[in-house]
Amino acid sequence: MSELRFPEGFVWGAATAAYQIEGAAREDGRGPSIWDTFSRTPGKVFQGHTGDVACDHYHRYADDVALMAELGLAAYRFSIAWPRIRPDGTGPVNPRGLDFYDRLVDTLLGRGIDPFVTLYHWDLPQALEDRGGWTVRETAEHFADYAIAVHRRLGDRVRTWTTLNEPWCSAYLGYGNGMHAPGRTDAGDAFRAVHHLLLGHGLAARALRAAGAEILGITLNLADVQPADPDSAADAAAVRLIDGLQNRIFLDPLTGAGYPDDVLAHLSGMVEPDFIRDGDEKLIAAPLDLLGINYYSPSYVAGRPGGAGGGAYPGSEGRVEFLPPAGPLTDMGWMIEPAGLTRLLERVAADYPGLPLVITENGAAFADRKGAGEAGGVADGDRVAYLDGHLRAAHRAIARGVDLRGYLVWSLLDNFEWAEGYRKRFGIVHVDYLTQRRTPKESARWYQEVISRNGL
Ligand code: FCB
Repeated sequence: MSELRFPEGFVWGAATAAYQIEGAAREDGRGPSIWDTFSRTPGKVFQGHTGDVACDHYHRYADDVALMAELGLAAYRFSIAWPRIRPDGTGPVNPRGLDFYDRLVDTLLGRGIDPFVTLYHWDLPQALEDRGGWTVRETAEHFADYAIAVHRRLGDRVRTWTTLNEPWCSAYLGYGNGMHAPGRTDAGDAFRAVHHLLLGHGLAARALRAAGAEILGITLNLADVQPADPDSAADAAAVRLIDGLQNRIFLDPLTGAGYPDDVLAHLSGMVEPDFIRDGDEKLIAAPLDLLGINYYSPSYVAGRPGGAGGGAYPGSEGRVEFLPPAGPLTDMGWMIEPAGLTRLLERVAADYPGLPLVITENGAAFADRKGAGEAGGVADGDRVAYLDGHLRAAHRAIARGVDLRGYLVWSLLDNFEWAEGYRKRFGIVHVDYLTQRRTPKESARWYQEVISRNGL
């Protein structure tokens, strides 16, 4: 294979999220989040796993940052736990919660690692869910207030701010099919949540900009949706519907085009869209400095009357059939198709020009086995192959003119994989949950090499 170099200044990093790694769920005044509640609800998370302890990163952050430095990371994407900052959702700011991120940011900067802050990676304070969660407008306003409280404390050192991680998941999995917290199952609520998440993004982005935030973005899990049969008009219509529900419903309003007509017509069949008020689309279209894209796997769909639909795509039942994933799969059962990443990056660059892109997540779960003994390593050649393939795919997009600025692997550490608990391992660093011992996998050493060469 030929040698590939990335553009000078290309940002190499890794990503995590608060609830998935921090633990210390009841420490220093943290309040409960919807994930604390959900993970304690019988049957929702694999074997009742919770984030109570997770990777104990809250106490081990300094060692974890040292490990990041050893791997040569230039950036670290982490999220702030809203319930640490505003434990009861609307009350006073909890300074001890901010203290943790203050220490983390200083430790990162001390090692020359650029902090990429995500303000919301799914852990809504339970107190706000009790008032309606993302189905009510007030939550968007509370989000902007919280964002400003964090910026007030960290804004002198953090340059890169992203508001939301994957609002598609928060809305459709949280309020539509109930697979994620808060576990509600109402199509109308899912669309209300989409809108209030976007509104929260817009309000927070404007407030952060006014406060002097340098680089503002949002992270979306965009879908590379492909037709089962490229010649079928029915399949093309299915692609259009799923693309609308996952991609255009977010990208169009974020970039100033408002909600797409076909998507509005679709959702209006399920809910009266009276929650979209005059002026909202303008608020959502706050200027962006970067778009974070999370990519794992493509989807293939067919247009079929009576199709099962995708549970996470309200109104796709009876119209769309998702093809079962084919070929090599990850431990999540997700298809491995690096070409999907190239297609997705090129499509976003073509349809939404002028937005610098960063891959804020890409990676794979595999059933890693740690070798025996103290020195035992983890030979995760399957993960190396996955990452290698996707970096080549990203490079192809850059070579074709896509303005891709960086790549953040998901994830630095094995961690709490939401409804799957700890049974799915995404880390390039192995975590032994009994001892909290970290062991860089073969993929971590490989990534270290990639970073040092700025290429493959
Ligand atoms: C993404 C999430 C992230 C992680 C990966 C595997 O949807 O943003 O927290 O769970 O998937």
